[in-house]
Amino acid sequence: MAKNLYYFRPSALLKVLRHLPGAYRLVALDRAQSSHPDWTLPAVLVADAREDDLKQIERLAPEGGWRLIYFLQGNSLPKSRFNGRLFAVLPRQAPRAVLERAVESAFDTLNMEEERRRTGLQLRLVATELETLNKIGVALSTERNPDALLELILTKSREITGCDAGSLYLAEEDPEGAKHLVFKLTQSDSHSVPFRQFTLPIDTRSIAGYAAATGNILNIKDAYRIRNLPFRLNRDFDQKFGYRTKSILVVPMKNQKDEVIGVLQLINAKRNPAVKLATRQIVHREVIPFSERSQELASSLASQAAVALENSLLYREIENLFEGFVKASVLAIESRDPTTFGHSERVAKLTVGLAEAVDRSDAGPYRDIHFTSQDIREIRYASILHDFGKVGVREEVLVKAKKLYPSQIEFINKRFQYIRKVLELDAYRKKLDHVLTNGNQNYQPFFAEIETAEGKELQQLDEFLSHVLQANEPTVLPVKTSEKLVEIAGWSFQDPSGPTEPLLTAEELRFLTIPKGSLDPEERVQIESHVIHSFRFLSQIPWTKELRRIPLIAKAHHEKLDGSGYPYHMKAEEIPFQAKMMTISDIFDALTARDRPYKRAVPMERALDIIGQEVKSQLLDPVLFQLFVEAKIFQITAKE
Ligand SMILES: [Fe+2]
Ligand SMILES: [Fe+2]
Repeated sequence: MAKNLYYFRPSALLKVLRHLPGAYRLVALDRAQSSHPDWTLPAVLVADAREDDLKQIERLAPEGGWRLIYFLQGNSLPKSRFNGRLFAVLPRQAPRAVLERAVESAFDTLNMEEERRRTGLQLRLVATELETLNKIGVALSTERNPDALLELILTKSREITGCDAGSLYLAEEDPEGAKHLVFKLTQSDSHSVPFRQFTLPIDTRSIAGYAAATGNILNIKDAYRIRNLPFRLNRDFDQKFGYRTKSILVVPMKNQKDEVIGVLQLINAKRNPAVKLATRQIVHREVIPFSERSQELASSLASQAAVALENSLLYREIENLFEGFVKASVLAIESRDPTTFGHSERVAKLTVGLAEAVDRSDAGPYRDIHFTSQDIREIRYASILHDFGKVGVREEVLVKAKKLYPSQIEFINKRFQYIRKVLELDAYRKKLDHVLTNGNQNYQPFFAEIETAEGKELQQLDEFLSHVLQANEPTVLPVKTSEKLVEIAGWSFQDPSGPTEPLLTAEELRFLTIPKGSLDPEERVQIESHVIHSFRFLSQIPWTKELRRIPLIAKAHHEKLDGSGYPYHMKAEEIPFQAKMMTISDIFDALTARDRPYKRAVPMERALDIIGQEVKSQLLDPVLFQLFVEAKIFQITAKE
């Protein structure tokens, strides 16, 4: 680098300066500098000028990279130190050798300063890279979604090496246990590349295959000039997109057992990472080989990525395992009570939909409530499993469709048939007695009388039965006990085995007068106990920290804000927010499902009305219900 020696024109020193040993580039400055002189660094200014003349220089000179050698003008030392740039003060008659040494030393100082600056820069760069690597490491270890992780690995590898494009392959095993590479992902700054998954054998015939087969890093300066290696670049892509693949860095990703689990292929390192490689000319101008440092960084990143990837795959396996277990549990509930088929899954969809609506809302009392993807997962599992405790309820009660059990209604039918036969028999007997006593003369009026009476009795019997069958149907809303039913129960008949029996037994009457639904209080308690069973069952599972509230959420799905819910009679503030959402979804699905035993599906509008009534009675959260309606959450399961 040229050493620039500045002086003021005219100068008595010029002659001396010209003959200094050492290659100096002499640059003259005018004494009255008013504009910025064209400083080329490093520079030393040899000044035989008044201090005042130098004031201007001090203002106009660059920050660093130059020194001042000052020749005394009188006997007093200069007052200014020129911001530390004053290197030496020499007497006016200083011998030439002194000036020579002073200039040399000034440049040595500048040299050292520059060296220090560069080292500092280098250090800062390394520190930044390390920090970046650390940050990437943290990001990699916290990303649990394998697909997002692959994106992250490739993005960060490209960022840290400043390259244009890249691809990622994963080593996968086929059912026979043979391994191959699967092309998983590609990214490019310069082209949008349509993705198509394909597989590559792990052998030395392709670049990625080679890296996977040998476990070695490949750093290729020009992919069109590959020598002494068993593969060539497949130029299909370049030809199709008018691209030019030049420098390539291929890094195998190895796990802790040193097995290659994937291959990272980075393409075209750029001088300026922001430049798009739109044409081949730009490629030739901008693309450089991957540096040693890039190779080190990429390789360090690849090993971190491999560990993170293995962890995330393992995590996904565990998740799948759990998901499978949850599905099996749901199957277990729904096989016991096929009429509620799909209920758990629908409640989960509705509740998750409502939670997402709460998360999105930026007004109202819940605008500050947000759910992470983990929170959503917790809500989903709690919803899917909320009714699991039904496995602990007697099946007969669980599937009870009418007020009477099927065996009871069959019994009543048989009883009425019997009575019908008895009435018919009675009529025949009366006719026979008449004929035996009076002969068959003029029997018709008598027979007609008998038949009329019999017809009336049979008709009444039919009416009774149809009334019983009607009363057997459960209702959604409470109905008053029918007087007719009490009247029917007051009738009796002669049992062939002896005693007189009532037309309806006390138990039958009790069931038939259930005001709402199909269950009597004792059966209701049994059904309601499913919540306790759900809680007990879910509490057995060692949930992760993120899912630990599942039992508590599920436990509260039948609670109401005023404490009138079951089975714990929780108050509004005791009910978890997630459970408040689930309760609305649960009621909505129970009402609208076409598969409840004791009722046909309630139309959607009507279901929303019924829930709206409960909101008015302060049983359910009004804001959540408003969101349920406004965000049309109820439509989520409408098609099912
Ligand atoms: Fe339930
Ligand atoms: Fe439910």
